[in-house]
Amino acid sequence: MTIKDTIRKYTYDLKFVTHIPAKEVEILMMYLLEKNTIWLHLNYNKEFEKQKELEKLVKKRATNYPMEYIIKKASFYGEVFIVQEGVLIPRPETELLIDNALEIIKSIKDKKETINIIEIGTGSGIISVMLALLIENIKIIAVDINEKALDLAKKNAIKHGVEEKIEFRLSDLYENVDESNIDLTISNPPYIADDYELPTNVKFEPSNALFGGSLGDELLKEIIDQTNERNIEYLLCEMGYDQKKPLSAYLEKFDINSFSFYQDYEKFDRGFTIQFKK
Ligand SMILES: C[S@@+](CC[C@H](N)C(=O)[O-])C[C@H]1O[C@@H](n2cnc3c(N)ncnc32)[C@H](O)[C@@H]1O
Repeated sequence: MTIKDTIRKYTYDLKFVTHIPAKEVEILMMYLLEKNTIWLHLNYNKEFEKQKELEKLVKKRATNYPMEYIIKKASFYGEVFIVQEGVLIPRPETELLIDNALEIIKSIKDKKETINIIEIGTGSGIISVMLALLIENIKIIAVDINEKALDLAKKNAIKHGVEEKIEFRLSDLYENVDESNIDLTISNPPYIADDYELPTNVKFEPSNALFGGSLGDELLKEIIDQTNERNIEYLLCEMGYDQKKPLSAYLEKFDINSFSFYQDYEKFDRGFTIQFKK
């Protein structure tokens, strides 16, 4: 069967899990053939010789299993990262954390040569690796409780040539971090309420990367407390769309210079920046 006919044949099977079924069949074919879109389109009438392998992948994808786990990669902030089951898949809205971090770092850089950052819950390492790629003089300690995530994050740092700038460390929040020269903590922690019913595709991702407690914001509050206790000036976090009100109320007890919330591409509240008084 030709490439073109194979795409037609399998498109129907993916109709119920994606709004771009034909495109997804093409992505799976490109993955199997190790070819790009241009090659595929120029060779539409060629015989496709990996029918059995494709059928297996289409069946897996039809269960809502994430495409990124199948093809083992995902794009983030214009770069390609390795992903694997057991570690959260990067989300586009997390790119806003990078934009906001760059703003803060610009203001710190006027006063300091090297910026020291902690990332809590590094997952696949996307945030730390991107910051290391974008900022010349930066030192990052990236922590996670998931060893599988730390291994993957290291691989991504090596892939992008920034492994010298990031130290990956097993740590529950700041537990194994006693450095005192930190300028900024950045985090996209788990922030979903424990009883929230996840969509089927998200159920394939690790629950300790998603659930943040019975209300969802418990870990965020813990990060705020501990960052304040450690005298770190800036904290930048992603949060749930419904957490602006409870977190604003929570912040009232702190001695804060300034804080602001930001929205994501769909205009949902998505994160905050705090500058504590030093
Ligand atoms: C929402 S994921 C974010 C992953 C990655 N930073 C990203 O933005 O794609 C949260 C990460 O926090 C980690 N995590 C959960 N609880 C933690 C804790 N108490 N201390 C450190 N990391 C934690 C999880 O293992 C997971 O990798």
